Amino acid sequence: MSKVITVSSLKGGVGQTATVLNLGYSMSRLGPKVLVIDAAPQSGAGMASNARQKNSAGLLELLKGKAKAADVIVSAREGGLDFLGSGPVEAEEVIFFEKEAFRGNLTKVIRSVTDKYDYVFIDTATGLSVITYVCMALSSSVIVPLAPNALAVKSLASMLKFFRRVRMRANRNLVLEGLLFTMTDHTSPYEVSLINDVREGFPPQVFFETVIPYDPAFEQANARATVLAMLPEGENAGRAYLDLAVEMRLREMAQTRKEVENGQDNGIF
Ligand SMILES: Nc1ncnc2c1ncn2[C@@H]1O[C@H](COP(=O)(O)OP(=O)(O)OP(=O)(O)O)[C@@H](O)[C@H]1O
Ligand SMILES: [Mg+2]
Repeated sequence: MSKVITVSSLKGGVGQTATVLNLGYSMSRLGPKVLVIDAAPQSGAGMASNARQKNSAGLLELLKGKAKAADVIVSAREGGLDFLGSGPVEAEEVIFFEKEAFRGNLTKVIRSVTDKYDYVFIDTATGLSVITYVCMALSSSVIVPLAPNALAVKSLASMLKFFRRVRMRANRNLVLEGLLFTMTDHTSPYEVSLINDVREGFPPQVFFETVIPYDPAFEQANARATVLAMLPEGENAGRAYLDLAVEMRLREMAQTRKEVENGQDNGIF
């Protein structure tokens, strides 16, 4: 069964799209088959990768019944990474997209493509919208990227409230995969102290141990419309996303072991 992970934040520009693309790519390098979905019309993964130019059709055409999944999903040059864009969503179609989310059709379309993947990462638009609600409602877990600045940290409480609301009303199996510090500068005493303060407010397992450092090489990746982790110059943050993928896998193995120990599993076969 595939694990579907929505990446979402109330505050923009904190690395949601960067996380979906780089973690998705890094996870696929570890072996699993990965699908990245751009459910953020106009600000998401389609624009940050060259997938949009490769095939501009996407969720929009699937929602309109004008294409089949096989025609709109593109595969990365290397590895087991596939991409489903949002499609050429113009301003007036954003409302159509939201209506389809409200009617349950976005859920149906996304569910119809997730089956053959081990992991599905969904990029959502910044803020708390019906699209984000629907994506969380069909997901196994949520990753919340958190940049070390006062406004991003302040927005965390509302984000967690929204997460709890989705869990209560629409998906009681939803879990918080983790809060992920992004764009960090460990030489800044202000940031170090802010991160420590935030960490003290929650149980340690709420956070990923891996943090994603600030890396100016992202600009080069943007200019080349590619995923930083694919570039040799992306070894800093790119390496961190690979560490994050490994951390996620190790956490899952620990969780499975716990379930076996608790007798929730009936053996290997
Ligand atoms: N670790 C990082 N270091 C430096 N720059 C980064 C890092 N992560 C992302 N960026 C850059 O910061 C900008 C915002 O990142 P990104 O688009 O991933 O954020 P977002 O949360 O998806 O924003 P939006 O609200 O527009 O959807 C982009 O130009 C991206 O390339
Ligand atoms: Mg984005």
